[in-house]
Amino acid sequence: MLGLHDNRLTSGVADSVPVKQPKSYFVKSYGCQMNVYDAERMGELLEADGLSPAATQAEADLVVLNTCHIREKASEKVYSEIGRIEKAGRKSGERSMIAVAGCVAQAEGAEIAARAPAVDLIVGPQAYHRLPEMVGAAVKGERRVDTDLPTLEKFTALGTARKAAPSSFLTVQEGCDKFCTYCVVPYTRGAEVSRPANVLIEETRKLADGGAREIVLLGQNVNAYRDASGTGFADLIARVANIPGIARIRYMTSHPADMTDELIAAHGEIDALMPFLHLPVQSGSDRILKAMNRSHTADSYLKSIDALRRIRPDMAISGDFIVGFPGETEAEFEDTLEIVRRTNYAQAYSFKYSPRPGTPAAEMADQIDETVKVDRLARLQALLNDQQLAFNAATVDTATDVLLERPGKHAGQLIGKTPWLQSVHLYADGAKIGDIVTAHIESAGPNSLAGILQERKAA
Ligand code: SAH
Ligand code: SF4
Ligand code: F3S
Repeated sequence: MLGLHDNRLTSGVADSVPVKQPKSYFVKSYGCQMNVYDAERMGELLEADGLSPAATQAEADLVVLNTCHIREKASEKVYSEIGRIEKAGRKSGERSMIAVAGCVAQAEGAEIAARAPAVDLIVGPQAYHRLPEMVGAAVKGERRVDTDLPTLEKFTALGTARKAAPSSFLTVQEGCDKFCTYCVVPYTRGAEVSRPANVLIEETRKLADGGAREIVLLGQNVNAYRDASGTGFADLIARVANIPGIARIRYMTSHPADMTDELIAAHGEIDALMPFLHLPVQSGSDRILKAMNRSHTADSYLKSIDALRRIRPDMAISGDFIVGFPGETEAEFEDTLEIVRRTNYAQAYSFKYSPRPGTPAAEMADQIDETVKVDRLARLQALLNDQQLAFNAATVDTATDVLLERPGKHAGQLIGKTPWLQSVHLYADGAKIGDIVTAHIESAGPNSLAGILQERKAA
């Protein structure tokens, strides 16, 4: 039967290889942490429907490609992945069922349906609670495309896992009303909505009972969080911090314009709030920031960072940068290098501007040559890498708390995180995943630290 909310039905899957009956599934995620969170929720829904998780994509009867639309490269990956699954299917005489989920599904659902006949169903990021029903339809040969944007509806269909990772994600806010001129997210995730604080506190309790020690509050603009009853983000953090078992709180991604005084103050008042903040600035040039519709200036950004560091002198900052935005001059690019020097980043993600269909910046004159973008990205990354290495090197010969999150490659080795989000490899006899231990840092590389156990810290 056709569900009421199915906004389109295309008939018949055109490729000739028979499709497997889905008993097992595999979700492959691209893009941001929100997609990782969504992938876990899709897994729970499919398991509630009787499917079991496959160890690898190749073994799965149903492959869910949870896609990202943010840059062209990310977006194109989905088509090559579909091609690989089709090829494997032709070889074995039976192919995995293919679901395309995530932001490419939302942005290009119709195009995927036309361009990739092997895709059995297409589900947007706000409609995935209907995934089991859509798989059921696909089994009967009905190919559905569901890219509705029903606010918050999906969350009511989701249970919370009984077992939780030591560091667990929790989506508290989704969508974006900021409309930066380069960005697809407002179109793929829809308008900003915040989930009710009471529901989130209940979910956090369950996560803590299931073993979570750290909660990462997620949102496209997480610091714009405000629920219908008026609970703001700083209040939400304070309530999460009061839940027994929760030792660490992080949040991402924040917008500089929403760094309120209350939120900055919370970093000085709430011990569980970790001294690390991902605060993308994108550019150090006010003219470019304006053209990007960022609603903050280089100066207002630096003021927030200074205020945070006054309150928490050990505050580490991470950022996102775009080089080669339309019209960016050499001098404006150098303003970006300057804000990097002023801020001193512990971590960063930097990208060449990628024109995205339907966004205002893609239509702007003065698109920058690829060679210029390549050159600027290399110069920016050289500076950021130096800062990251220096930040890590400064921890050598110090003692630091580490939340143990997963086993390492070698016997007896565990991998955890410092309060500043650095990965630490350590041999921690007697300690187990989920413990917070004190490690003595022995050496540092650009991406991780190595340490030895200093003492078992009382939980
Ligand atoms: N909501 C977050 C992150 C959005 S996407 C924020 O506002 O910061 C993550 C990062 O991808 C952005 O911070 C930006 O640096 C980058 N990005 C987004 N659109 C892009 C584009 N068209 N080209 C290159 N990088 C882009
Ligand atoms: Fe995209 Fe800007 Fe919204 Fe971030 S704030 S998701 S960069 S539109
Ligand atoms: Fe990508 Fe969508 Fe996240 S476009 S970055 S998966 S919100």
